[in-house]
Amino acid sequence: MAKVLLLFGGRSSEHEVSCSSAVAIHEALVESGHRVIPVGIDREGDWYLADASGRPFKAQGRSVQLMIPSAMLRVGNDEIGFDVAFPVLHGPYGEDGTVQGTFETCDVPYVGCGVLASSLAMDKDLTKQVVAASGVATTRWVTIRKHEWMEDPALSIGEVSRALGFSVFVKPSAQGSSVGISKVSGEGELKEAISNAFRYDVKVLVEEAITGREIEVGVLDGPVSSVPGEVITDGGWYTYDAKYEDDTSSFEAPAQLSQDAARHVQDLAERVFETLGLSGLARIDFFYETGSRRFLFNEVNTMPGFTSISGFPKAWASSGVAYPELCDRLVNAAIDRHEERGRLAVR
Ligand SMILES: Nc1ncnc2c1ncn2[C@@H]1O[C@H](COP(=O)(O)OP(=O)(O)O)[C@@H](O)[C@H]1O
Ligand SMILES: [Mg+2]
Repeated sequence: MAKVLLLFGGRSSEHEVSCSSAVAIHEALVESGHRVIPVGIDREGDWYLADASGRPFKAQGRSVQLMIPSAMLRVGNDEIGFDVAFPVLHGPYGEDGTVQGTFETCDVPYVGCGVLASSLAMDKDLTKQVVAASGVATTRWVTIRKHEWMEDPALSIGEVSRALGFSVFVKPSAQGSSVGISKVSGEGELKEAISNAFRYDVKVLVEEAITGREIEVGVLDGPVSSVPGEVITDGGWYTYDAKYEDDTSSFEAPAQLSQDAARHVQDLAERVFETLGLSGLARIDFFYETGSRRFLFNEVNTMPGFTSISGFPKAWASSGVAYPELCDRLVNAAIDRHEERGRLAVR
């Protein structure tokens, strides 16, 4: 049984989702016999010892400082130690290698991917470059850098139109929850969509819009994959509102796929997991293109939504791994990985 620092909230557009995920993880870890210290990070980046009876958890309470490199939590005059961290943080400043680097510096185990894999997977452009180079098909895309856009927007617009045609999806390279993303069906709307995406990042992707189904696979160390799940939307795409605000979308697991197609997408997900050097967990998302019936890699989430009704836990539940067991496995995998890395020669 471990003493787990459950870190949630964070400086990201996915702050609220994280607060909800933390409630479910807390309950599951306690059920498995772990001791849990819930610490919430507010939108300014300050840490607080949270009240575990709150629903959802809130990033409020007594102020907490993580001391580096002792890895002790200072609360007032008290110092609290922990065995393993579970950062259920989504998006920038949490899922992107920053918090992972802090725990590396403290030499404590933490759930999920390491520094390189976390930051790589946060950047959609670099992720697609690496995945494509490994031979897994991805959606075609054009990358635009802020300085190129500032110097000559017409050049970028021309390149997109020539290379991709329409419709396209415009997205900030490093974001999540569909924030800053738009679907564009003609050249006239492109400028506004790209300018909007540049509000969130200095690098923007424009991708061919795929007509097809959205298939997601959960992967754990092994790599071993869950049954594929499917995001089902009411005709549109999976917007922020569809994800969190309205009920125009649902997640179905297992997805209705032939056995061959299901195995194929699982193989692809496991390949991506290895190629990107992911560890702990990841949800790997694909499009299943209508017509060609090809799977096209879309993106990786190294800390996917983790409420009990989120896709990743649901896909694992349909694969026979219930929510409490899933959380317990992740904590144990974090400790094992830390031990394994600790045995590596340093000189
Ligand atoms: N190339 C594309 N073709 C079709 N739909 C897309 C494409 N890119 C994104 N989408 C839609 O936008 C949603 C969010 O895009 P995604 O790249 O997954 O970003 P996020 O990290 O915000 O989830 C997807 O779930 C899908 O519904
Ligand atoms: Mg997505």
